Amino acid sequence: MNSNLAGKFPNLRLRRLRGTPAMRSLVRETRLSAEQLVLPLFVRSGKRLRRPIPSMPGVFQLSLDELIKEASSAAAAGIPAVLIFGIPEHKDEKASGAYARNGIVQQAVRSLKREHPELMVITDVCLCEYMSHGHCGIVRKTARGVSILNDPTLKLLARSAVSHAEAGADMVAPSDMMDGRVHAIRGMLDEGGFESVPIMSYAAKFASGFYGPFRDAAESAPKFGDRRSYQMDAGNALEALREVALDIAEGADIVMVKPALAYLDLIYRVKTEFGYPTAAYAVSGEYSMIKAAAQNGWIDERAVMLESHLAMKRAGADIIITYAAREIAGWLKET
Ligand code: PBG
Repeated sequence: MNSNLAGKFPNLRLRRLRGTPAMRSLVRETRLSAEQLVLPLFVRSGKRLRRPIPSMPGVFQLSLDELIKEASSAAAAGIPAVLIFGIPEHKDEKASGAYARNGIVQQAVRSLKREHPELMVITDVCLCEYMSHGHCGIVRKTARGVSILNDPTLKLLARSAVSHAEAGADMVAPSDMMDGRVHAIRGMLDEGGFESVPIMSYAAKFASGFYGPFRDAAESAPKFGDRRSYQMDAGNALEALREVALDIAEGADIVMVKPALAYLDLIYRVKTEFGYPTAAYAVSGEYSMIKAAAQNGWIDERAVMLESHLAMKRAGADIIITYAAREIAGWLKET
């Protein structure tokens, strides 16, 4: 409090409400809860496989059997949803694995829904894991360099989304950042009889250094160039709002801001301007930074994880997608 004011009004004491845990709990404005967390999981073929991702301690590439175990423990912790990423056996220039009827994600969705019908299964819809070059769209080499084709990519994305829905996905989440993909996906889902499958669009997704560890996990780093011609420039907030407006107009049911911690202003603005269900993705690099600092003894992992996720909630996020979902759920139970 401003000290002049404190002098004028000696009865104004904000500290009165901070005295005890019970008092603080009564007046706490924002709370984290396991019920709003989504746990991302990486699946690949094989049996009894739990391949650690060195840059993401506690995160693994899982075979189907292990994926089920991981999903069970998430459900037991009170987490309502998982977000599935696939690592295919073969990559090509048309991302065939992304929309194969028996692709790794499609298999994962089927077995998850069989074993845990109550657990919500969300699928990431993108092509980068399935493309030999690692880009999120179809690549054409031209005299002036390489370009990522927009419209031809839409069909492949929509086919992927439909194949996920056919396998039983409860919601699809396009993360490619091509223009018009929400419209294309909505159209093909509706045609296929999946009118009731919602779309959570990665609406404001920035070209970010924070995705580094994910690309190890999903083996999806681009072999050449970068993603700046389709993901957003970190300096742009108004453009992010245009992205969100467009995705909503095209039929997105939930809009996402990604990454989270470095873009809290956008979580706030997206929530206040559109009032739509808003998701924040606490991405791989955010997780790895906290893990690494904690492993060095430099910060208190539990305190920093809880505080940073609470900040996303305070900024306006309804849903938080986070690799720390299970740990957070556990800590929340203890407190
Ligand atoms: C696929 C995709 C990425 C992430 C989610 N979906 C990687 C990328 O765009 O390069 C990043 C997630 C994370 O860093 O945790 N396009």
